Amino acid sequence: MHEEITHPCVQHKLALIRDVDTGHKKFRELATEITMFVCYEALKGLSVNEVDVETPVATAKCHKIAEEIVVVPILRAGVGMLDGILSLLPSARVGFVGLYRDEETKEPVTYYEKLPKEAKNGVCIIIDPMLATGGSTVATIDLLKERGAGKIVVVCIVTCPEGVQRVEAAHPDVHIYAASVDEGLNEKKYIVPGLGDAGDRLFGTR
Ligand code: PRP
Ligand code: URA
Repeated sequence: MHEEITHPCVQHKLALIRDVDTGHKKFRELATEITMFVCYEALKGLSVNEVDVETPVATAKCHKIAEEIVVVPILRAGVGMLDGILSLLPSARVGFVGLYRDEETKEPVTYYEKLPKEAKNGVCIIIDPMLATGGSTVATIDLLKERGAGKIVVVCIVTCPEGVQRVEAAHPDVHIYAASVDEGLNEKKYIVPGLGDAGDRLFGTR
């Protein structure tokens, strides 16, 4: 299952972040803001516990998030979405998976992994701004499942039909949330129209 967040506020910010003239400071701010909107939707299925809260007037029946949350940014561009999701879930744990896409094969290469043990029984939310061929996302889901993770959600900023299909074919239980499902991939396996190299634009490395 995948869902595109078509809210005008998200689409407006997407227009700004796509712009080739948007520099890394503004790009980072927009990535944080878009992440908050997309995560707000992605988190709507979290389980809650009923709790009693004493207000100054009476006892209120309230609800608190019942599940342990583990946010998993895919290094390095996923770090650009971390502030946004942690502002919604300040108590979440964070586990890192380091992957880069080999420039020749376009397939992911894993170089780092550090996950909290709660990844096993909690909800893992993978964050990466770009879900292109889907190789990096599938590799991260494979790794999380090998470590025992059961509930996994993917949040990205831009994806495309090829990437969504690859993830859905490999892991039909994993829901993908994106601000946009773009047209497709070019010959370099970049998303079109996309927003270019998200890591470089976030961190000013090009
Ligand atoms: C980008 C992006 C994803 C991956 C998407 O990372 O942030 O992780 O490519 O491509 P895929 O869906 O085809 O696997 P990149 O390899 O550029 O590394 P970086 O985050 O270190 O810049
Ligand atoms: N990685 C990016 O940063 N952008 C793309 O369009 C594809 C992969």
